[in-house]
Amino acid sequence: MLLSQEEIELFEQDGFLVLKDFVSQYACEALRNRAMEIVEAFKPPETVSIFTTNEQTRHSDRYFMESGDKISCFFEEDAFTEKGELRQAKSKSINKIGHAMHDLDPVFEEFSRTPELAEIAKEIGFADPKILQSMFIFKQPHIGGEVSCHQDSTFLYTEPLSVKGFWFAMEDATQENGCLWAIPGGHKNRLKSRFYRNKSGDGTRIEVFDETPWETAKLVPLEVKAGTLVLLHGLLPHMSYANRSTRTRHAFTLHLIEGSAVYPEWNWLQRSPDMPVRGF
Ligand code: FE2
Repeated sequence: MLLSQEEIELFEQDGFLVLKDFVSQYACEALRNRAMEIVEAFKPPETVSIFTTNEQTRHSDRYFMESGDKISCFFEEDAFTEKGELRQAKSKSINKIGHAMHDLDPVFEEFSRTPELAEIAKEIGFADPKILQSMFIFKQPHIGGEVSCHQDSTFLYTEPLSVKGFWFAMEDATQENGCLWAIPGGHKNRLKSRFYRNKSGDGTRIEVFDETPWETAKLVPLEVKAGTLVLLHGLLPHMSYANRSTRTRHAFTLHLIEGSAVYPEWNWLQRSPDMPVRGF
């Protein structure tokens, strides 16, 4: 067992669990370097794709909608001036890389598919964990956008609900540079909304079941050091504020689903039949 009984109970009680020093500084640096190489090689398409989780304006262009089985780069919402020019260098303008590096890039695959992570997944309740998506999140200095409060099951829905997040701090995350915030125990409430891919394949919509606002007064900051792994329940309300500091806040995330759960064809994230979702 990698987790103690107390840690498993804490995860069940709070909906998240902070595991300090889970990965080495060397592994963090190797992943950050690889992410920066991917951005360096990225040639922005004619129409740029911007990532925001603001539900009204969340991007649902083709580049985003087809990124479930690719390595794609998304710009920060505030990356461009009104004239459409980058405010900062390209390397300081990308919001994230997603969503299949764990399948397509050897460095990301090595980081993502380890016996330790397979074991953790089992210990928090997975029988047959599958790695659905990976994201390298930059949270750039000055322009790193806020990710509004949400439950991951809204965006990665299965029947029964099964998604859980593995969030790795690649750098120290503080309130200054936009650390995670979460509502302890908030995962015991039901799913508030569901995000759909339109039948036409382009565009999305959101169905809201529960209009009550998030209890933001209950949010607590998860300030963690580089190398920390945070486990997140799929119903846990969590968010991060904008990064207005001069430092980046790099993080890497994996989202796992249960192999036996039904994965609807209306989820935004879809993969080619040639690239079925795989476990560890
Ligand atoms: Fe999330």
